[in-house]
Amino acid sequence: MTAMTDDTLPTRRLGELEVSALGFGAMVLSPGVYGDIDDARAERALLAAADAGATFFDTSDGYGADGHNERLVGRALRARRDEVVLATKFGFRLAEGAEPHRFPVGFAFGELAVNADPKYVRGYAEASLRELGTDRIDLYYPHFPDPQVPLADTVGAVAELIQDGLVRQLGLSNVTAGQLRAAHAVHPVAVVQAEWSMWRPVDAELLAAARELGVGVAAWSPLGAGFLTGQVGAVEDGDFRQNMPRFDAANRQANHDRFAPVRGIAAELGLTPAQLALAWLLHQDPHVVPIPGSRTPAHIVENLAAARVTLPAEVSARLDAILRETVVSGGTLL
Ligand SMILES: NC(=O)c1ccc[n+]([C@@H]2O[C@H](COP(=O)([O-])OP(=O)(O)OC[C@H]3O[C@@H](n4cnc5c(N)ncnc54)[C@H](OP(=O)(O)O)[C@@H]3O)[C@@H](O)[C@H]2O)c1
Repeated sequence: MTAMTDDTLPTRRLGELEVSALGFGAMVLSPGVYGDIDDARAERALLAAADAGATFFDTSDGYGADGHNERLVGRALRARRDEVVLATKFGFRLAEGAEPHRFPVGFAFGELAVNADPKYVRGYAEASLRELGTDRIDLYYPHFPDPQVPLADTVGAVAELIQDGLVRQLGLSNVTAGQLRAAHAVHPVAVVQAEWSMWRPVDAELLAAARELGVGVAAWSPLGAGFLTGQVGAVEDGDFRQNMPRFDAANRQANHDRFAPVRGIAAELGLTPAQLALAWLLHQDPHVVPIPGSRTPAHIVENLAAARVTLPAEVSARLDAILRETVVSGGTLL
């Protein structure tokens, strides 16, 4: 393992954007996600991430109630606004009168509802700008494709916002390779956001399409919603992971045991399991930027240090071989 010595984090290109190689996902900073949180603690976490060199912050109008997460991110980072890339998403915080368009999403949620009809998109962006306390959204994603609205129409509405200077870049979240290609033909996509971690391989076709089109990848839940840190015990009441079969007592223990060889490699390298999980992701593609979340400054500093880790090719090969053989119990997070 070799480490960079200067204080700043290495950067990566996501389409036209240049961001720290590891970003910060703010979802965990709203109540009801993964454990206790209050706004003072949340603001300390955001500042710790900025102080440790993160320049890519991910939120959504759907995190927390009534724009809570966007307000928090905007407030905490106001003085750093010009140093950071603010990414947010729309579709879950329904406009007044907007009908919820429901769709199934597997085990953890069962069903979600969005409305990404182009007639509402400008209103969503204006609300997000207000909550974030800024005059521009650097990266704007429909959080999920709307099952009742052609994605090209939603994308066309974001393209207008880009033309008008309210938004800088278009992102897509939770899409297929086909949806990425179709949307990119309407307006260039800078970033596609997808779940990707040691316990959830990225969709190979989506990654191939992103590479071919020059689209960056933001990897969500890069620590497996905390599992890959090796530190998640019994999940408490009010923690959303209670809805995720991978975290029920039997599956969590079985999965924890199966990941022992991965934690062994981390120990061998003098890394924490979280650092190895993030470094492994960074080695998968030069245009992937994981966006781990945390309420805890010490964890945030630990995680961001993984941006400076170089894994020897032999270690990456060993890890890939282990991961190929590692069965995960409990379905997927989404
Ligand atoms: N587009 C989408 O649909 C979508 C879906 C899910 C998530 N996301 C994005 O992805 C971001 C990250 O995903 P995520 O929050 O689900 O999961 P994650 O980053 O994989 O894991 C977060 C959890 O890991 C724990 N953790 C982090 N670093 C740690 C460390 N070094 N040691 C021990 N524990 C550590 C945190 O606990 P502590 O707070 O105790 O550190 C937290 O509970 C979100 O914030 C959101 O921005 C997007």
